[in-house]
Amino acid sequence: MTQNRAKGALRAPAPAFITVEGIDGCGKSTQARLACRALERAGYDVLALREPGGAAISEKIRALLLDPANSEMGGICELLLYEAARAQLVHEMIEPALAAGKVVVCDRFYDSTTCYQAFAGGLDRDRVRVANELAVGACRPLVTFVFDLDAQTAASRRSNRAEDRMEAKGLAFQERVAAGFRAIAAEEPARVKLIDAAREIDAIHAEVLAELRAAGFAIPACVEEAGR
Ligand code: ADP
Ligand code: TYD
Repeated sequence: MTQNRAKGALRAPAPAFITVEGIDGCGKSTQARLACRALERAGYDVLALREPGGAAISEKIRALLLDPANSEMGGICELLLYEAARAQLVHEMIEPALAAGKVVVCDRFYDSTTCYQAFAGGLDRDRVRVANELAVGACRPLVTFVFDLDAQTAASRRSNRAEDRMEAKGLAFQERVAAGFRAIAAEEPARVKLIDAAREIDAIHAEVLAELRAAGFAIPACVEEAGR
């Protein structure tokens, strides 16, 4: 709901779909939370989601994907489970929210599949592209933030939490994922914004807000100051 502006008075570019990406522990959930808060304070109606998950069926699939006990899971099974979780999220949550004029902010989306399952996991990129397209249809992000951080620093940031099945793949895997995200940012600079995530939280947030403004979001300076 809005705090500063009457409902129905949302400005362009809402409805809009924003995704945040990066390796595990890069700080993207922290930045997604701050961006959502800033957008809400600016008067946008915001829905925050995460992948895999965000809908009841997708959360059940998430449990299968991240359970370290499922160490025998093959690459195609893994790919299709991520896509199944995503297809349900698009169907049940993202498309209805966009139809209602909201700004949807999703922690991970199909770029994660391209990087984890293709760049790092070794699946053919064209096959992964086809699977992504099947899951999302016409639902594409307007802006994607990639929080770029080296794997060692990211691992130390998440050192206080238990390792899931994907994190157990190790540092070299995470470096390949990070290289994949950099490649996507170079391929699609209009959509994908590569953000140096090695800095302090406030400095990164300020850059995110600058990019959102550049994308057409009306975020007054007082919102930024209130977030500090
Ligand atoms: P992700 O969603 O990418 O896994 P999180 O946002 O959960 O990452 O952050 C992982 C950990 O790092 C958290 O403890 C968080 O407080 C911390 N963190 C986030 N951003 C930064 C930053 N810029 N500098 C230092 N620590 C950070
Ligand atoms: P999560 O705990 O949400 O990680 P984080 O907080 O770092 O985002 O776990 C999601 C894991 O699933 C993470 O290791 C990335 C991985 N993943 C894929 O491999 N492919 C995908 O398509 C998606 C969405 C996530």
